[in-house]
Amino acid sequence: MLKEAYPYYLANEAVYANKDLEVTDKYSGEVATYVAMADAKAIDQGIAAAVDATSAMAALAPYERQAILNHCVKRFQERAEELAMALCIEAGKPIKDSRGEVSRLIDTFRVAAEEAVRIEGEVLNLEISARAKGYRGFTKRVPIGPCSFISPFNFPLNLAAHKVAPAIAAGCPFVLKPASRTPIGALIIGEVLAETDLPKGAFSILPCHREGADLFTVDERLKLLSFTGSPAVGWDLKARAGKKPVVLELGGNAACVVDSDADLEDAVARIVFGAFYQSGQSCIGVQRIYVHTTLYDKFKQKLVEKTKGLRMGDPRDEDTFIGPVISEGEAKRLENWINEGVERGGTLLCGGKRDGAMLEPTLLENVPAGCNIVEEEAFGPVAVLEPFEDFDTVLEKVNQSTFGLQAGIFTRDLYKAQKAWDVLEVGGVVIGDVPSWRVDNMPYGGVKDSGLGREGIRWAIRDMTEERLLVIRTP
Ligand code: SIN
Repeated sequence: MLKEAYPYYLANEAVYANKDLEVTDKYSGEVATYVAMADAKAIDQGIAAAVDATSAMAALAPYERQAILNHCVKRFQERAEELAMALCIEAGKPIKDSRGEVSRLIDTFRVAAEEAVRIEGEVLNLEISARAKGYRGFTKRVPIGPCSFISPFNFPLNLAAHKVAPAIAAGCPFVLKPASRTPIGALIIGEVLAETDLPKGAFSILPCHREGADLFTVDERLKLLSFTGSPAVGWDLKARAGKKPVVLELGGNAACVVDSDADLEDAVARIVFGAFYQSGQSCIGVQRIYVHTTLYDKFKQKLVEKTKGLRMGDPRDEDTFIGPVISEGEAKRLENWINEGVERGGTLLCGGKRDGAMLEPTLLENVPAGCNIVEEEAFGPVAVLEPFEDFDTVLEKVNQSTFGLQAGIFTRDLYKAQKAWDVLEVGGVVIGDVPSWRVDNMPYGGVKDSGLGREGIRWAIRDMTEERLLVIRTP
């Protein structure tokens, strides 16, 4: 289903420069296709082309940007099954989740097309004292200029789309470095963008070696860096990004609280999904589960039962829920973390076995604080359970994390819901569902080690535009 080889895109054009990057089928481990890798010279050319395209991009009328984005929506709809299969192969993402990601890609571009014609300014009242009499102020938003984007492996299409689509809506040219393990999704976006009337140089999509990749971070011609990926890499990039603003969408160890008034069946069903969909490889996958003591035993029994019933196997199979994690190395890391949790006093409730990159969905309980599986980001199919008695205390527990992306609270009590919203140190609180819930037009991002800034098209457009003031004096 994949082509034999893929080009990179330099200044809107496909370049079959080499076949240096082998992209494997993450389930079979076999090479699935080859991709051209950009070297430092090509990246430099991509940035120069983006700089040259800055005025032409800014000059595109909003309806023209909208038409480009609508073209993408149409093409993604036409190519939906091909896109889903590409994800399934390159990321090992179960086909149902892959289709879900394609539908989100379409949403992201559709919302960007809507937002492209809604980038508005303000009329300001400047007459605040006698010396300002006769002055009026107006603001508009202007594109920030060439942007640098780095996207991760876990949502190869939609997390690239969260940078690309708002950039087009805002009128910014860009260079994008997709994840080397899963570049195909972004390259198919490139194929579709190459069909549009984007000005020459508006986009370059450049899978690349480490050598040269630094330009995405340090080059002063780039006016914004937007990175999605691991906290360690993200914060290091920020330290080296110079004067440009930086948006970081990083990881988390998301907590979910099930209070005494929760609907047990519903909470179990949602948490099984939130912890294990796409093998837990989501920054907002449920990792820490706190359940009220009155429900704990029943909840645990049902959760373990459902988790054991999840079908593992070939991601192409329609019934597969758990496919491989991205690499055997990551599966081994998680296996070690599970073993550490058990050695230090936790109980393994189910799962824990690994075969290559396939790791069973795993639940542990009462793992002591300080263990990696509690403190760090798992990014895999592993979650820990713990009972709680007091709602305020459990909120403190949720906050005892260096991360703060989203939290989920199953409660029907309006006051508790508001309390959670008030005190939780996260970018978003989801009541009645898992922290893993996201729709693509909402502000999305974290606090603490989870990042800086928000994505979600409208919020990304804000970062990709600057306010410019006009003052008019009427003598
Ligand atoms: C992420 O892993 O940060 C993205 C989660 C999502 O878009 O659902």
